[in-house]
Amino acid sequence: MRILVLNGPTLNMLGTREPEVYGTLTLADIEEMVRQRAAELGEVQVAFQQTNHEGELVDMILAHRDWDGLIINPGAYTHTSIALADAISACPDLVVAEVHLSNVHQREEFRHHSYVARVAWGQITGFGWRGYLAALDMIYGRLVEAGRA
Ligand code: DQA
Repeated sequence: MRILVLNGPTLNMLGTREPEVYGTLTLADIEEMVRQRAAELGEVQVAFQQTNHEGELVDMILAHRDWDGLIINPGAYTHTSIALADAISACPDLVVAEVHLSNVHQREEFRHHSYVARVAWGQITGFGWRGYLAALDMIYGRLVEAGRA
């Protein structure tokens, strides 16, 4: 079972970026926790990518078209990118969970809409770093149920 964890713009700054909104853990800390959880689950291979560039996110999604799962925090592109939504739609076998550290619905109006949510299986928002672990559990459970373990 192969699952890609993809983080978009400015998530490389976690730890120092608005810690009151996004927490104090770095992206490397979060990756380590996801790796640990994946090891506990067994049979799960996780890979991590981060980029600040929209087109690179598209390329990364498409390059993992034949993988099983995608955990994506698209950052600000969540609210602007039809390109990302189209890329996800082009990957029908990927089970996709959209993750946000902050609760986007408690924030500015422009963060309330997600293009990605239309094409993702589900959205996890507002649970901080725990959202990544929840997303992993959700995708894992669905893949096991579908016999894709
Ligand atoms: C975010 C929420 C987005 O609105 C914002 O642009 C981000 C981070 C989150 O994880 O809470 O960059 O995706």
